[in-house]
Amino acid sequence: MPSAATSETGSGVALPPATFYFRCIACSSAAQSASQDFRCAQCGNLLEITDPSWQPGKLDASSLKSIWRERRSSNALLDRSGVWRFRELLPTPASEQQVVTLREGNTPLYELPRASRATGVQRLYAKHQGMNPTGSFKDTGMTVAATFARQAGYRWVACASTGNTSASMAAYAARGGLRALVLVPDGKISWSKLSQALDYGALTCQLRTDFDGCLRLLQELVRSAPVYQLNSINPFRLEGQKTLAIELLEQLDWHPPDHIIVPGGNLGNSSAIGKALLEMHEIGLIQRLPKLSVIQAEGANALFRTLQEAHGKHLVPVQAETRATAIRIGSPASWQKAVKVLQATDGACEQVSEVEMAQAKAEIGAEGIGCEPASAVTLAGLKKLLRRGFIKPHESVVLILTGNLLKDPDFTMDLHRGTLLQRTPHEAEEAKLKSFRHPPIVLDATLDAVIKALDHAEKSDVNHSNA
Ligand code: F0G
Repeated sequence: MPSAATSETGSGVALPPATFYFRCIACSSAAQSASQDFRCAQCGNLLEITDPSWQPGKLDASSLKSIWRERRSSNALLDRSGVWRFRELLPTPASEQQVVTLREGNTPLYELPRASRATGVQRLYAKHQGMNPTGSFKDTGMTVAATFARQAGYRWVACASTGNTSASMAAYAARGGLRALVLVPDGKISWSKLSQALDYGALTCQLRTDFDGCLRLLQELVRSAPVYQLNSINPFRLEGQKTLAIELLEQLDWHPPDHIIVPGGNLGNSSAIGKALLEMHEIGLIQRLPKLSVIQAEGANALFRTLQEAHGKHLVPVQAETRATAIRIGSPASWQKAVKVLQATDGACEQVSEVEMAQAKAEIGAEGIGCEPASAVTLAGLKKLLRRGFIKPHESVVLILTGNLLKDPDFTMDLHRGTLLQRTPHEAEEAKLKSFRHPPIVLDATLDAVIKALDHAEKSDVNHSNA
């Protein structure tokens, strides 16, 4: 396993010596290196990475802000990455030569004028992590974790995945000269994500189980084979994913939004964003903490139930079922980290139905940006949090869109063709999606037919706006 005391110099530019170490999130035991499964040797809980150089007094907030801004006009390899640009708050690799990067990060922050009008939230933004090199937020963590896997001399990296992690890992492994082993649930991930892993050359195994079963098998595998695990249990992943929040705050000129809303699956991303917010607050980069809220699909609501039924004290696992396959997870690995950051930032957890998620996805599509279904739970969750009075319309809200529209074309086609909920327990609700549909129409190749279609669309637009 990569240790904190990395002394390799490589042939690239030397970076400052590594000072980070691993710390258990439960018993706070500290260690210079981590075991294969990234669990605490004392109590078995998850590890996180920390570094004394990130503490207040060691880092000056205003110089960090200006260094990071200056790097935006630099052509140096590390500065062009929207992750390594913030390297003062990341574990340091031995040399620049070790870094595996595809220029991840640097993702846009969009306004959402239509959703803003519909919800009454005037300052409503979407941070679109689907604009990363492989189309999801996973790339920001993968650049860091793949770098440390390569530096430690591993030949094989591996992950269990609902699709996006495998696509990202396969890409970064290929760039870093590593072999990739992918374990995915058979028939339960989207074809476009699966095809990415194939194209990037991963050894791809479709296992006859669900994501939770794939993850269990991976845990066994890393204990018995020299394979480096790149799931979000790997704390290097979460360090990279912290930069989503740092970049967001930089885009908002360091004025924190009142709320950040993120989808929850295995709960690595929410944990990473929360860790970043707490570190930025401690260093003085921001003066107050946004509330971080996690939204889950009703059919994969382990965190929601853990908080409701067990007050966050023990995990309430579920048998997950949702058309948002990215978050079809019943036993989230990082649930304790997520509970901690929700409590520390005073955030909330909500669940949304399949119909609510599909409507929200169509609404985000209508903004001209689109996203994959799992990302759309954020807008659906915002509506619920507004109804609950947890979010007020005058407050500012940022939705984290985790994946690109093109990640799950089957969902989008089914939504518009009116077949999304067929043969599911929610079949009777399909009609609620009618006004969101824009199905393709097949016509004779004549001018008359196309003009008629145009007239028809114009009339229904007028009827719609009068309705
Ligand atoms: N959104 C998308 C698009 C995802 O792919 C995932 C997770 C999540 C949200 C949830 O993030 O797990 O950090 O809470 N996808 C993983 C995968 C599990 O294997 O691609 P999380």
